[in-house]
Amino acid sequence: MNFPSRKLTVSLTSLLLAGVAALPFAADLTHPQDSTAPKAAAQDKAMSLEAHMKAVNKSMKQVRNFLKNPTAEAPVALVTDMQKHAFEAKLMDPKKTPKEEGKEKIEFVRGYKQEMRDMIVMLLDLELALDKKDWAAAGKLMEELDKQKSDSHKIYKVKGKDDEEEGGDKKK
Ligand code: HEM
Repeated sequence: MNFPSRKLTVSLTSLLLAGVAALPFAADLTHPQDSTAPKAAAQDKAMSLEAHMKAVNKSMKQVRNFLKNPTAEAPVALVTDMQKHAFEAKLMDPKKTPKEEGKEKIEFVRGYKQEMRDMIVMLLDLELALDKKDWAAAGKLMEELDKQKSDSHKIYKVKGKDDEEEGGDKKK
């Protein structure tokens, strides 16, 4: 029997097993604050602007629910994920964007991107507030985000059937 090579096989197997066992901890290192983070938004390049918005909407509901009774760990990683969705959405053009090249289109796109920047800044502030456990500040930012959503949608979003659907723009 070739004893040294068997030993090598055993130690390689132990290394592999140790690596697999360490995987959940490696995942935790990415989001040390909480385990609520969904899969990274930016990974799915095929997502539409609407899908990014719906993802933000869903997370908003979760944050709103958390703030009703903020006893557990704050969903900080969830807000980081919302930022990724908002950032991806900022790179896209809404359906309502004027088709024809020209001043009107330039102004529309510039306005849209400015609103999205403001939204991303608010989401960064929300992350900070949750991380500091400043629930009052977080609640205020949620209200501001709700208002910005409704003001921006009046200008940049085509009014559609989704307004009445679950997961759509309806405020719950
Ligand atoms: C927290 C803030 C926001 C939330 C939760 C939100 C949520 C949503 C949802 C659920 C939809 C898809 C369903 C529907 O049409 O109603 C949507 C669509 C849309 N939203 Fe938002 N939104 C937010 C902020 C904004 C802001 C700041 C802007 C503009 C700068 C914006 C622009 C749009 C546009 C343009 C669409 C239609 C998609 C398209 O044209 O392709 N939203 N949003």
